[in-house]
Amino acid sequence: MAQRTFSIVKPDAVRKGYTGAVLAEIEKAGFKIVSIKKQSISKPQAEGFYHVHNERPFFADLCSFMSSGPLVLMVLEKDNAIADLRKLMGATNPANAEEGTIRKKFAGSIQENAIHGSDAEDTAAFEIGYWFAGHELV
Ligand code: CMP
Repeated sequence: MAQRTFSIVKPDAVRKGYTGAVLAEIEKAGFKIVSIKKQSISKPQAEGFYHVHNERPFFADLCSFMSSGPLVLMVLEKDNAIADLRKLMGATNPANAEEGTIRKKFAGSIQENAIHGSDAEDTAAFEIGYWFAGHELV
């Protein structure tokens, strides 16, 4: 059954001019782009989005990085979207990412890792609702 997930082309990939290439990988893998917007986000917005990580040592750096330049926010849809996007993205640390994955191709480091994808149904619902209003998802 079609499922929705949330994804971000992160500021490192946008800065390097990889936005189109990352979107092409996503579409080639069979995802429908339900909604998409390019924008900059504030540090407080990043902190709210990543609140589950707020005890982690990398939290402050991560939120500075995510608010360092424009990024691309997306809602994606396909059967098994959440797991399939995680597979297409590859491991969080690009050094451990499988050949052919987006992070293997485009990510520079564990923090500047090109793409975000929701890890479960409840986080997908929170993340979609955090960035997109209902009228943007038709
Ligand atoms: P993301 O999938 O967006 O979810 C949390 C983010 O935190 C992750 O991608 C990385 O960008 C970042 N991250 C995870 N682990 C580390 C780490 N050990 N050091 C720095 N950043 C990390």
